[in-house]
Amino acid sequence: MLTRRKILMQTLQAGAAWAISRSGGVLVASAQQAAQTPNKTPARAPDVMTVNSAPHPQALSHYDFGPMPTVLPREAKAVRGPHSLKKHAQYHGLIAGACVGVRALQSDPAFQELVAEQYSILVPEGELKWRALRPTEDRFDFAASDALFGFAAKHRMLVRGHTLVWGNSVPDWLKGSAGKRDMRELLVDHIRTVAGRYRGRVHSWDVVNEAIEPKDGQLNGLRKSFWYDAIGPDYIELAFRAAREADPHAKLTYNDYAVEYDSDEDAERRTLILALLRRLRERDIPLDAVGIQSHINAGSPYTVGKGLADYIESVRAIGLEVYLTEMDVYDDDLPDDVQRRDYVVAETYRQFLNIALANPAIKLVLTWGVSDRRTWLNDPPRDHHKHPNRPQRSLPFDSGYRPVRAFFAIRDSYDSRKI
Ligand code: XIL
Repeated sequence: MLTRRKILMQTLQAGAAWAISRSGGVLVASAQQAAQTPNKTPARAPDVMTVNSAPHPQALSHYDFGPMPTVLPREAKAVRGPHSLKKHAQYHGLIAGACVGVRALQSDPAFQELVAEQYSILVPEGELKWRALRPTEDRFDFAASDALFGFAAKHRMLVRGHTLVWGNSVPDWLKGSAGKRDMRELLVDHIRTVAGRYRGRVHSWDVVNEAIEPKDGQLNGLRKSFWYDAIGPDYIELAFRAAREADPHAKLTYNDYAVEYDSDEDAERRTLILALLRRLRERDIPLDAVGIQSHINAGSPYTVGKGLADYIESVRAIGLEVYLTEMDVYDDDLPDDVQRRDYVVAETYRQFLNIALANPAIKLVLTWGVSDRRTWLNDPPRDHHKHPNRPQRSLPFDSGYRPVRAFFAIRDSYDSRKI
C-alpha cells in the first residue's frame, strides 16, 4: 500500500494542473438526474437530501461501521439556512469553512451561493502561496487573492491565510537564485508584503507549513526543505516574528499533516511537533495555534483515537488553539459501489471529528474543498492510485452540489459536541 505521504508528495509534485474527469454512472442510483447530467450546475443549492436513500446489502468487513442506515431521518434533510454547516458549527463553538479555488468561485454563481451559505471562513487553495503570488522575482500578483478577500467581505466571511512558508510552493526563479541572494531578507520581505497587505483581515495565517519530517533524520525533527536549506533552522522563528509584526491581529499557526493516526510514524511526528512548539514558546516566539491538516484515508489500516486526542490535549496544554485545516477523506481503497463508499467516507469523517471535537481547543473545521467537482485528490498523476480513473467522493457535496452522507456526518459531529 502506498503511504499517505507518498500519495501526497506525488500529487504535490504534479503541481496545480487539474482537469475535470468525471465518468458517467459514478453518481448514486437514487440521484438519477444527477447521474445523467453530472456536470450540470443546479440553479441553487439544494434544500433536501436527494441521495443515498436506496438500501444496499453489500457488507464490508474491513471498513465495518455497522449496519448502513437506508433512510436518513426526516429532520436531517434540510441543509440550508439554520440547517447549514456554519450554523450548526456556531451553536457548538466552532467556525466551519473550506478551501476554494478563486477562479472556480468567480465563474460559478451556484458555487458562490453554496459557499456563502454553508461556511463562515474560506481559505484560498493556492492563491496565497508563493508560486501564485510571485510569478517573477520582482512582481507580486494579488489579483486572485484580492478577489477572494472581496468575496469574503461581501458575504461577511472570515479568511485564513495559507501559507507564508512552505517548501512545496517555491517558484522556479527562486529555486534558481538560492545562494545568490539574502534569503532571510527575501523571506521577511515576502511576509511583510503579503501579511501586511491583508493586515486586520485574516483570521489566522498558516505561517509555516509542514516543517517537521522524522524521516529526514535530524535531531530537531526539521524537514530538509527549501527554506531549511536556504536559511537554516531559524527560518521558523524568523517567519513567525515577521508575521506578528506584519499583522498583529491574525492568529499565527503552525500547520502540518500525518499526525492523525495511531501509527508509529504519526506518533513520532506528533512528538517532534510538540517539541518544536515548546521550543518556540520558551523563546517567546509569537504563535497562537496549531493546524492539523486532517487528510484522512478511509482505507487506512490505522485507527484514529488516543494518539489524536492526546496530541490535541498536549497542544492545548501549551496554550494554543487547534484548527482542523484541510480535512478530506481519501476513498481510493474503497470498492466501487458509490453508496457504500459514501457511507464509509461519512463514517470516517464522523469518527475523526467526534474524537477531535471533544476537545475545546478545537475552534475551526475546514475541509479541503467543498464538492467533488474539485478536489486535489483527483489531481494527476494518478497512476499510483488503485482507481486512477475513479473520481474521489471525499467532500460534503457531490459534483452537482448535492449534500452527501459526509455532510450529515460532519453536521452530526458538530451537534454532538458537548461544549
Ligand atoms: C494542494 C492543492 O490542493 C493543490 O491544488 C496544489 O497543487 C498543491 O497543494 N497540504 C497543504 C495544501 O498544506 O497546501 C495542499 O494543497 C494539500 C496538502
